Amino acid sequence: MSNQIKKIGILTSGGDAPGMNAAIRAVVRTALDRGIEVVGFLRGYDGLIKGDYINLDHKSVSNIMQTGGTILLSARCKEMMTDEGKQKAIDTCKKLGVEALVVIGGDGSLTGAVHLSNLGLKIMGIPGTIDLDLACSEYTIGFDTAVNTAMECIDKVKDTSASHERCCIIEVMGRNAGYIGLWNAIVNGAEEVLIPEKPDVTEEEIIDIVVKNKEKGKASSVIVLAEGFTKVKAHELAKNIEAKTGIETRATILGHLQRGGSPTAIDRMHASIMGYRAVDELLKGNYNRIMIMKDGKYSDIDVVEGLNCKRVYNDDLYKLVETFA
Ligand code: F6P
Repeated sequence: MSNQIKKIGILTSGGDAPGMNAAIRAVVRTALDRGIEVVGFLRGYDGLIKGDYINLDHKSVSNIMQTGGTILLSARCKEMMTDEGKQKAIDTCKKLGVEALVVIGGDGSLTGAVHLSNLGLKIMGIPGTIDLDLACSEYTIGFDTAVNTAMECIDKVKDTSASHERCCIIEVMGRNAGYIGLWNAIVNGAEEVLIPEKPDVTEEEIIDIVVKNKEKGKASSVIVLAEGFTKVKAHELAKNIEAKTGIETRATILGHLQRGGSPTAIDRMHASIMGYRAVDELLKGNYNRIMIMKDGKYSDIDVVEGLNCKRVYNDDLYKLVETFA
């Protein structure tokens, strides 16, 4: 194995996701083990552009595996969209002797990495987003923790809804994707799920499900609303259901609590293996790749090819929700 790289950089960008710290640790520990120095840029591309970084030694990533968030901080950086910003990022790497950059984030963050690869920097992507919306990978770090967190919250809301024989609407995250919504609709036994991939569901249809559910003798109904389903707002829908059916209805927006918390074993494991593989591939001379999960196995794909993959919506999980309702 040829080890020509002497120093790499790492950053976390976009919405943070539980497990990012485990990925940082895996990258740092693997790199140090192979004699590579690591610097961590703070606040994503913002730190790269401004030259705001910390040296990451063995101790600096101790005891972070179990923590949510990212020790490197994260941001959505508008300056990375400008030619000047991209050049400044490259200049920082040259000045510090950083030969390759590991980027942990979602599609926006990895698109930023492509811009830098076009300017000659070696890059390596690790998918980190609770939304699971990177089409090239079956898994993105943070998803499992977010679903588990939402599951616990929805169970609690269900307890009180059942006591009061109410309908509850629970909004979960997912900017353009309904994966958290679909998973939670199944694992929390929801009667209906509203996701951006199925935008044609009408308010009448939603109300019909609530009424039929009552007729079946169920004490309460749960509607999981993915935030990307923009046709209705949670509180407005609650008011309308109550007005049209007489069934008391409350809305709960889970929001950012889904992005925090200690990562599950699954997230820690995927993050550790992807982080390890990212460095390993760089050492083999493979770069400009994204670490992915494909057909249940760890793999990697060219970053441009990966970002060009189109998400294909599969109705299977939705059908389960309909069947179980
Ligand atoms: O990164 C994923 C995500 O949590 C989405 O589900 C959500 O729409 C968005 O980020 C929220 O971003 P911000 O924290 O910048 O408001």
